[in-house]
Amino acid sequence: MDGEWDYGTPEEMHALGRQIGADLRPGACLGLCGPLGAGKTQLVKGLAVGLGYPGEVTSPTFSLLHEYRGGREALFHLDFYRVETEGELIDLGWDELLEEGVVVAEWADKFPGVLPPETRMIRIEHLEGGGRRVREGVAD
Ligand SMILES: Nc1ncnc2c1ncn2[C@@H]1O[C@H](COP(=O)(O)OP(=O)(O)O)[C@@H](O)[C@H]1O
Ligand SMILES: [Mg+2]
Repeated sequence: MDGEWDYGTPEEMHALGRQIGADLRPGACLGLCGPLGAGKTQLVKGLAVGLGYPGEVTSPTFSLLHEYRGGREALFHLDFYRVETEGELIDLGWDELLEEGVVVAEWADKFPGVLPPETRMIRIEHLEGGGRRVREGVAD
């Protein structure tokens, strides 16, 4: 479903993540776009809770991939920020991750070529006053 919403606080962004996470199916891929500090990781924290994952979620900027198991589906959390080529993602097992569970990638727009056509793209913008605007649509 396409749409656009404004979120004033980190708690509201977390709640959006929980709502999205609550009805994700295995094989789902989400692409998160937006500048540093936009709230991409904050959204994933909510997403993990929505999937029933009980542990801590942290930014995979340096490790590229965090795996969260123990919820309804395995959740694979990637950050493309430091990835330089699509080949690095393929070597990491990108295709297998998509088969095994739910995949969420921060900075997804850096490598549109690896995203399945049905990827849900979630774009976050800063608003004046500290809020965030979130737009959702399919990958283009
Ligand atoms: N409306 C909001 N939505 C999401 N995060 C917000 C919001 N307002 C302030 N923040 C803060 O902005 C920061 C976003 O950080 P993070 O989620 O790591 O961003 P990113 O992963 O996009 O770089 C957090 O410190 C969060 O508390
Ligand atoms: Mg992040």
